[in-house]
Amino acid sequence: MKRAMLYEGKAKKVYRTDNPYELLIDYKDEATAYNAEKKAVFVGKGQLNNAISSILFTMLHEAGVDNHFIRKLSDTEQLVSAVTIVPLEVIVRNVAAGSMAKRLGLEEGTPLSQPIIEFCYKRDDLGDPLVTEDHIRELQLATESELALIRQSAAKVNDVLSTYFDALGIQLIDFKLEFGHKEENGQLVLADEVSPDTCRLWDKETGERLDKDVFRRDLGDLSTTYQKLLERLGAAQ
Ligand code: C5P
Repeated sequence: MKRAMLYEGKAKKVYRTDNPYELLIDYKDEATAYNAEKKAVFVGKGQLNNAISSILFTMLHEAGVDNHFIRKLSDTEQLVSAVTIVPLEVIVRNVAAGSMAKRLGLEEGTPLSQPIIEFCYKRDDLGDPLVTEDHIRELQLATESELALIRQSAAKVNDVLSTYFDALGIQLIDFKLEFGHKEENGQLVLADEVSPDTCRLWDKETGERLDKDVFRRDLGDLSTTYQKLLERLGAAQ
């Protein structure tokens, strides 16, 4: 079933399968930050991210957000629909943090009056620069109708995930999504991963970071943090 490796990313390996419309994703133990300038291995991280993203993709599917996830195959592997990725990182923010807080001189933790969406051009060699919709049009990274669908889906993901995490005592600060067209029928769906590698999640009571900032900012052991998060998600099932 697992065939040739198609692509190795920073946190995942992608393999072909016997079905041309399905791919296998193997989550790695490696963590990277700051465009891969900082790297480390956390034993068990791949397994934890596979478990967490499988739970979140399943929940999003049940809430009506079409996505590439088909099923979890093993501790570190999941089966997904093959997609052609739209070369945009779609960032949704509820609270100022990270690069937005820095860029705009806001104190990290400042609530935003409404969710903010940002687009970055997926180009490692350029450091994934922030782009406006005019740039997206100029570079033909997505059509108007694709952008409208992406905005709509990103807003829905924000509603669903914010409500879900809130019930667990966790605030969804921000997150990054990627979208792709299914090779099978061209449908635009949510793809890549939804995990603590790609979200900021703060404990509502203590402010404890339950995401990759623990690695970015040397706040502790990443696998221990992700295990804690998985246990809290498990309690909601
Ligand atoms: O660094 P920044 O504040 O722009 O990140 C916003 C959100 O997007 C964070 O949740 C971060 O984990 C996520 N992100 C990501 N991959 C990137 C850039 C940001 O998952 N390449």
